Amino acid sequence: MKIAVISDHAIPLWSSRQILLALEKLGVTPQYVRPSELVSVFGEGEYSVLHLPSLKPLDVDGAILRDLGTSLTLETFLRRCNVIRHLEMLGTLVVNPIESVITARDKYRSLLLLFKAGIPVPKTYVLEDFMIVPKIVETWGKAVVKPIVGSMGFGVVMTENPDVAYTVARTLLQLKQPIYIQRYVEKPGRDIRVLVIGNEIAAAYYRVQVSPNAWKTNVAQGAKPVLIPKPDKELEDLALKVIKILNLHYAGIDVVESPDGYKVLEVNAAPQWKGLQKATGINPATKLATYVVSLIKR
Ligand SMILES: Nc1ncnc2c1ncn2[C@@H]1O[C@H](COP(=O)(O)OP(=O)(O)O)[C@@H](O)[C@H]1O
Ligand SMILES: [Mg+2]
Repeated sequence: MKIAVISDHAIPLWSSRQILLALEKLGVTPQYVRPSELVSVFGEGEYSVLHLPSLKPLDVDGAILRDLGTSLTLETFLRRCNVIRHLEMLGTLVVNPIESVITARDKYRSLLLLFKAGIPVPKTYVLEDFMIVPKIVETWGKAVVKPIVGSMGFGVVMTENPDVAYTVARTLLQLKQPIYIQRYVEKPGRDIRVLVIGNEIAAAYYRVQVSPNAWKTNVAQGAKPVLIPKPDKELEDLALKVIKILNLHYAGIDVVESPDGYKVLEVNAAPQWKGLQKATGINPATKLATYVVSLIKR
């Protein structure tokens, strides 16, 4: 059996490497593929996805899609989505499915879908106007402005100052970026990452704030992963519901403990888990690889 791991990084990131190793251990031949190396050909009897530099059909039984690349032009982003769609059209199992990856990557679309399905989320405005932004912050007291597409806490800004919010919003608009502004949830010095693989909770852990100012509890921002040995039923049910709604095989779900209960902040369709694995020894790659192999064999 052959399985591709698709990612745009010239050298596989840590979690991708773990997946490649886990596949190998299962007796699968792993192949690291960059989206730019995939060639779509169709017409005059031809219909396949080829791989550079050989220009032979990408010969895999399945693919684990980790990322398509960042800071792409709209055209290149669409091209890369479509070449993955082409792979799917040829019958290749792609985990996660391209449509679900696109949805999850977009904080606006994914949270809107979750809200619509009854999942609690923080109150959020998405807009292209800076004039009402200071009013929103004044009403809420504390707000978070986030990139609609982003990760690891980068570019996420918290403010209680309406003028700061105004300037952030105005600057974003000048950069032709929409504004995604969310009520700040008073969380207990931590948030929760639930890692779901298949229909199971692979790990749930607190990401504990290490200093009073480190309110962004991404591990990449310095937060400490602390395993939740027995996640409660409510958290488990919430996480399993989220992956069903977004049609994901596996995901990392960010949850905050708000005064009114759990709220989902975002869903990662290709989560990193280096911090978790280093802190707890849990290796989600093994579970993921086993799960993907079982799907292909089915
Ligand atoms: N509305 C919010 N209220 C409180 N904290 C937040 C809120 N949104 C984000 N955070 C904090 O910032 C971190 C990063 O936000 P998140 O939405 O997960 O974006 P990213 O994709 O960058 O991880 C979260 O893990 C959380 O600690
Ligand atoms: Mg996050």
